[in-house]
Amino acid sequence: MHTKDKILVIGSSGQIGTELVHKLRDIYGVDNVIASDIKNTNQAKEGPFEVANVMDAHQLGEVVTRHNVNQVYLLAALLSATAEKMPKLGWELNMQGLFNVLDLAKEKIIERIYWPSSIAVFGPNTPKNNTPQFTVMEPSTVYGISKQAGERWCEYYFHKYNVDVRSLRYPGLIGWQSAPGGGTTDYAVHIFHEAIKNKTYECFLSENTTLPMMYMPDAIKATIEIMQADADKVKVRSSYNLAGISFSPKEIAEEIKKHIPDFSISYKPDSRQQIADSWPQSIDASEASKDWGWKPEYDLKRMTDDMMKNLKQ
Ligand code: SER
Repeated sequence: MHTKDKILVIGSSGQIGTELVHKLRDIYGVDNVIASDIKNTNQAKEGPFEVANVMDAHQLGEVVTRHNVNQVYLLAALLSATAEKMPKLGWELNMQGLFNVLDLAKEKIIERIYWPSSIAVFGPNTPKNNTPQFTVMEPSTVYGISKQAGERWCEYYFHKYNVDVRSLRYPGLIGWQSAPGGGTTDYAVHIFHEAIKNKTYECFLSENTTLPMMYMPDAIKATIEIMQADADKVKVRSSYNLAGISFSPKEIAEEIKKHIPDFSISYKPDSRQQIADSWPQSIDASEASKDWGWKPEYDLKRMTDDMMKNLKQ
């Protein structure tokens, strides 16, 4: 950590941004972390906040220069289910936003970028279990296509223009501080809220749909670890596989029943089932472990206990 680090988090009010901003401010100081989103939110009361549109390169450049920003975390994106409904917007936001930030680093206005990729870069022809870092990808969703293209561009900017961009392929993320929006893995957050409120949940994926998942504290830890790693340790400049837990709706429901014995779940798969079926069930994150020491802390039980404790309060 440099004492001079000034960080901009774009998409700061989203599921990841909300928690990441808190953690970054703990580490770097409130005034050194600028939150920004497309619209004004309560976050504006907590510290520096800018309303900015990542699609507007000029506006983005202005915010970065005015605050003397040297690191950008670019979290603004349309997720898998939403992007299927608005394919052109999904592509434009996910790609143009990335180019605008990559170009700031190419022009040496900023020094380091974090950009999230996803398990959605994989597709139906990818090995489903313990999916390797380097393998057949062929994503079949708009979101996955945009993330795979983004990975290629990150690596390209790294080699061609010496841009220090770092990335993780997040699995489905589960947390209690913020709501997910528009993803296929969102059920794994909704299920907790419904279990506590109504003791019942209708799941939009089928009972045995196993997907790679992760508890938010692990995801935040991985994000900050890769950003703080020495540059020469970050060998993969497209995006790293990241693994936490893998489970199905049935398995998480069983775990929740240990806390709420009369909880019941039913299944009504919708269009998101097809997206989930195209993704891996578990991920091999050994490159991340080897290169910069990745190790998750939460398993299904520990995550469920923690979610229950915090959501009940
Ligand atoms: N959680 C994301 C989604 O479901 C995957 O990156 O879209």
